Amino acid sequence: MGLMGSGIAQVCAQAGFPTAIVEVDQKLLDRGLGMIHKNLGRLQEKGTLTAAQRETAEGLLKPSTELAAFANCDIVIEAIVENLAKKREVYALLDVEVQANAIFASNTSSLSITEMMTATSRAARFIGMHFFNPVPVMKLVEVVRTIATDAEVFETAMAFAAKLGKTAVRTSDRGGFIVNRLLVPYMLDAIRAFEEGAGSITDIDNGMKLGCGHPMGPFTLLDFVGLDTTYYIAGIMFEEFHEKRFAAPPLLKRLVMAGWYGRKSGRGFYDYSDAAAASSGSALDSRAPRPLDGLLR
Ligand code: CAA
Repeated sequence: MGLMGSGIAQVCAQAGFPTAIVEVDQKLLDRGLGMIHKNLGRLQEKGTLTAAQRETAEGLLKPSTELAAFANCDIVIEAIVENLAKKREVYALLDVEVQANAIFASNTSSLSITEMMTATSRAARFIGMHFFNPVPVMKLVEVVRTIATDAEVFETAMAFAAKLGKTAVRTSDRGGFIVNRLLVPYMLDAIRAFEEGAGSITDIDNGMKLGCGHPMGPFTLLDFVGLDTTYYIAGIMFEEFHEKRFAAPPLLKRLVMAGWYGRKSGRGFYDYSDAAAASSGSALDSRAPRPLDGLLR
C-alpha cells in the first residue's frame, strides 16, 4: 500500500465502506496506515472531519498481510507496483482467494487492463479505476472498460466512484486512457521547449501556471508525479502508439539514469534539498525548490 493505495483506502473508509487493506509485509502496512492516520488527523485539525467521523473511518479499516482478507469483498482495487508480471501474479492469486462475484479494478495508469484480466477467470468483472495523486484531494477517477467488461459491472464501478465523492469519466483500455493520453505529451513537450531554449524552468512553469490557470507548472508537476514514473509511462505509450509525442526527451532519460526522480529523491527539475520545504507537506512550496536551469550545460 503505497501512496496511491493508502489514498484509495482512505477515501473508501471516509465514504463509509468497510475497507480491507493488504500489504506484502507489516512494515509497509504500518507505513501506509501511518499515512492514512496522519491525513485523517490533519482533516480533523482543519475541522473537515469531526472526531467521531475520524474514528468511524479508522474503525472501517481492516489491515492485513494476507490476500485472504479480501475474500468477501465486493470490489478489490489493486494499486501495486506498475509491473505487468507482478500484477498478473497477484491477480491469479486473488482470483482464487476472492468470491467469484467480486469486481477486480486496477489503479494502473498505463498498463493494459486486458493483459491483467487474462490472469483471472473473471474477464467480464474486470475494469480499471484510475485515481489521481493526491487521491484524497483529486476529484477524478477514470473508469476503464475492456472489450470483455460487462456493462452492469462498468456502471457499478461508475456508481462506486461517485459514492467515494469522485467524478468518474468513462474510458476504454487504450494506452494512457484519457488523462495521461493528453498530460504525458504535454509534460514531455515542456521538456522539449526547455531543451530548445523557449524559456527557463521557472518561466515555463510560471507561463502555464499563471497563463493557463494550472495549479502547477509542468516541471513542478513532473517532479511531483516522479520523473521515473513519467519516463516509464511515456515508454509504454510510445510502445503502444509509436508516435514521437510519446517519446521521452534525452534530458528526461538522463535525469532518470542519474536517479534524479523529482521530489521523492530530493532533486529533479528543481532541487528540494531545503529540509523545511521537503517536510512542509505542501505539494507546491514556493519558498525553497531551486530550479536547475544548469541542466542544459
Ligand atoms: N494528501 C492529502 N491532502 C493534500 C495533499 C496530500 N498529499 N497535498 C495537499 N493536500 C491538501 C491540503 O491539505 C490542502 O487542503 P485544504 O484546502 O483543505 O487546506 C489542499 O490539498 C491544497 O494544498 P496546498 O495548499 O498545500 O497546496 P496546493 O494549493 O498547491 O494544492 C495540489 C496541492 C492539490 C496537489 C495542487 O497543487 C494540484 O492540484 N496539483 C496538480 C496535481 C495533479 O495534477 N495531480 C495529478 C498528477 S497525474 C496522476 O496522478 C496520474 C498519473 O497516472 C501519473
